[in-house]
Order: sequence, then structure tokens, then C-alpha cells
Amino acid sequence: MALVKTMEFKDGNLYLIDQRKLPRELSIFKCKDYKDVEFAIKDMVVRGAPAIGVAGAYGIVLAAQGCIGLSKEGFLNKMKESAEVIGNSRPTAVNLMWAVRRMEAVVEENKDKTNKEIYETLLNEAYIMEKEDLETNKSIARYGNEIIPEGATILTHCNTGALATVGYGTALGIIREAHYSGKNIRVFADETRPRLQGAKLTAWELVQEVIPATLIPDSVAPVLIRDGKIDVIIVGADRIASNGDTANKIGTYMLSQVAKDFNVPFYIAAPISTIDFGIDSGEQIVIEERDAKEITHINGARIAPEGINVYNPAFDVTPHQNITGIITEKGIIRSPYSVNLQFI
Ligand code: MRU
Repeated sequence: MALVKTMEFKDGNLYLIDQRKLPRELSIFKCKDYKDVEFAIKDMVVRGAPAIGVAGAYGIVLAAQGCIGLSKEGFLNKMKESAEVIGNSRPTAVNLMWAVRRMEAVVEENKDKTNKEIYETLLNEAYIMEKEDLETNKSIARYGNEIIPEGATILTHCNTGALATVGYGTALGIIREAHYSGKNIRVFADETRPRLQGAKLTAWELVQEVIPATLIPDSVAPVLIRDGKIDVIIVGADRIASNGDTANKIGTYMLSQVAKDFNVPFYIAAPISTIDFGIDSGEQIVIEERDAKEITHINGARIAPEGINVYNPAFDVTPHQNITGIITEKGIIRSPYSVNLQFI
């Protein structure tokens, strides 16, 4: 099995696979300070909810590293400022805020220690998060594999693989697990307009591991579902509200709606850190709107006329009524989500 290492913290720098360049080129983006991490998250060098969470945590480590020599007051102010900057670099995936808050709590608990000691504790915490993410994904994969029938054809959207996490992946991790457990599965991967995470990243991971897969334009998915060609749909999540409403890559809602019409099971795979217990429903989820150029241009060349208005939300919200189950590292949660999510 090919091992993808999305990120590595080494010699005081964070190294990220530059996902903007895949599959043409496997190159590494070096972050020397937290501003580089902010840029990497905003520009989608690194993307996927769990991956930006852990990258964000290392961003806080880099911020601490850069101001060890300051007074305690200066150091603590800089930590606040960097947490704000990193936490706001993308608004929808709650994992980013979750990771930043966890790092802020470490600063708070250790604020009477030296700056160097705080830095070391932060580095250790980010390292723990990195390890936890991989273990969490393996557990999601094991639970998820239970709902994959032998010979199943699985539809997935966006990239939820090793690249979207520290390793292995969530929805794509389940697909990996099913494949390696010997089931003869087949995958349909949506290309995922406009950033094409499916065509560029999911297809790359599937081809690398020789998992039988077919790439389709997003608009083909409803036809396959209607024609009985899909046994199960599994996607990831960027934020899950307390009632189970789930924000994920734009196009997910459409899939869930067609799946409901044709009685095809529709699962979300996500770590518990993606659940936002602070909000009651999907209406409270902030949906990121991205640059118009993602729609008007292809590879830097304009394809739409000057002057056209563009609406480019990066995510949509799938209502909990459309979700068959939420596969987490602690097991599969089913409706009623507002009750059952509380007990995980
Ligand atoms: O804009 P992206 O590429 O960061 O969006 C990614 C997704 O929507 C994924 O489905 C989600 O983050 C889960 S990744 C395990």
C-alpha cells in the first residue's frame, strides 16, 4: 500500500504536500512561520477538514517558535493573535477551530512556564493530534467497512482520503479498508467542480492503490443512482450540527437528495472533532464563498465572459433527514441524531 504523508513537522518547519499541484507534480510546500500556514490553508495547499485542523495546530507551534525570545506578555499576545489568524483562515470546517482551541488551552494551562517550555508542550500536543488523527481514521474505516457489502459499488464526492487527513482518510479510508479486506468493491468518484478534488486527488489516491475506480462528472451521479448502479454513497464532512445536519463539499446535498428519492444508503464518515455541539442545526453553519476565478477561469485562462456575476459556495448543508448514518471512530450513529450524537 502506498503511504501518503500529507504533512510532516521537521527541523522547525512544517512540510506539506502541495495539493494544488497534484497529480501533475508531487512537491512539498515549506512553512517556516504561521503566516505560511495561513496562506497554505487559504490557498488550499493543504485542504480537507482533519488535515487543516492538524496543520493549523502546527501553525500555532510555528507562531510560538517565532516569539520564544519575547517577554511573557509579548509571547502570550502573539499566541492570541496567531490563534485568531489561523482559526479564521477557512470558516466552514470546525476541525480547524477545534484544533486551535485545543492549542489555546495548552497555552492557558502552561502560561506560568517559560516560553520555551510552552513551545515544547505545544509541539507535543500537535504531535499527539497528528497521531490521534491517523488512529481515528483507522477506527472509522473499521466501523465503515461493516456497512459495505461484498461486491458493492460505492459513490464518493470530493477528496476524503489520506490527503484530506494526516493519513488513510475518512470516507476514502473506508473504501481503502473494504478493498484491503478483500471485498471486490468498485468506486465512482465525482470530479467535484470547481476545484476538482475528485479528479485530481481522489483519482490519484485510487490509481496509486489500484482500487477499481471510475471518474465521473458530478452531473452523472444522479443518473447512476437512478439507474440502480450505486449500492452505497459515502462522503466526508466539514461540520456536523448537533441535529446531524452536515456541511460538506458543494454537491453533497444534491447527491443526498437523489439518494433519498431512490432509497440508496447515504453515509457521512467523520471524526467526532467534526461535530459542532455548539450549534443546533445546519442553518448556523458559515459557508465559505471562494474566489470567482475558480469558476470563470480554467488553468489561469478565462473561460467565462468579463462582467458575469459568480456565486461560488465551497460547501452545502445536507439535512439530517437525508443521512442514513454518521460513521465515527466510536461507531455508527443513526437517527435521531439530536439524541444519539449526545451519547458518543
Ligand atoms: O474545500 P476542501 O477540499 O477542503 O473540502 C473538503 C471536503 O469537503 C471534505 O469532504 C471534508 O473536508 C472531509 S475530508 C476528510
